[in-house]
Amino acid sequence: MKTQYFTASSLDGFIATEEDSLDWLSPLGDLNDSSYPQFITEVGALAMGSATYEWMLRNAEAVASEMGTAWPYTQPAWVFTSRNLPAIEGADIRFVNADVRPVHSEMRAAAGAKNIWIVGGGDLAGQFHDAALLDELIVLVGSATLGRGKQLLPRRILSPALRLTSVRQIGTGMAELRYEVSKAVSPELLQHRSSPMATS
Ligand SMILES: NC(=O)c1ccc[n+]([C@@H]2O[C@H](COP(=O)([O-])OP(=O)(O)OC[C@H]3O[C@@H](n4cnc5c(N)ncnc54)[C@H](OP(=O)(O)O)[C@@H]3O)[C@@H](O)[C@H]2O)c1
Repeated sequence: MKTQYFTASSLDGFIATEEDSLDWLSPLGDLNDSSYPQFITEVGALAMGSATYEWMLRNAEAVASEMGTAWPYTQPAWVFTSRNLPAIEGADIRFVNADVRPVHSEMRAAAGAKNIWIVGGGDLAGQFHDAALLDELIVLVGSATLGRGKQLLPRRILSPALRLTSVRQIGTGMAELRYEVSKAVSPELLQHRSSPMATS
């Protein structure tokens, strides 16, 4: 029953170009050679931000021709947005404009014994991490750099650092890295909390 951020990133830490393109990704490797096929069978609920959802809307035809349907997920999905976005026919989606904590509770209830997948983007995964709700990161690191783009995880996670639990090579175009999020409270945070100057 983990909450996992599974994504693909360029070597320099971007999950999409500035224009939200993912065209650079597919030449690097086949998702079916990664742990994704097993991973998705263990997902009971998923969440994404609006830019990721809008990518699905824009690429509905391509996704449908590759996966057989414009919305390839059977699990209930939560899309975070402050706007009114069009639904995709047949998709089990709830649009939410909220703090991630109550949404995570709803997702946990829906997922049952299965895992929760944070699809992206990076800041949304960061919001779950900020709330101590993220357990694992699985990153397919592509052998390409983008220079600029949408960040993998725009947070400073230093102490405790993430724990690298597995490394797997996928051809010459990708490496799959798994990190466990350490839930131990950092010494700096403990010191801050016990300091008389601490205001929060
Ligand atoms: N490489 C990969 O495997 C991979 C995986 C996933 C995504 N992607 C791509 O990466 C890009 C990600 O874009 P992104 O970084 O902009 O992130 P995103 O998370 O997809 O979208 C960010 C937007 O979501 C909404 N949002 C986020 N948190 C919210 C909250 N708590 N409440 C309400 N709304 C909230 C806000 O937009 P509004 O309020 O304006 O709607 C925010 O600007 C997309 O192009 C996507 O296709 C790549």
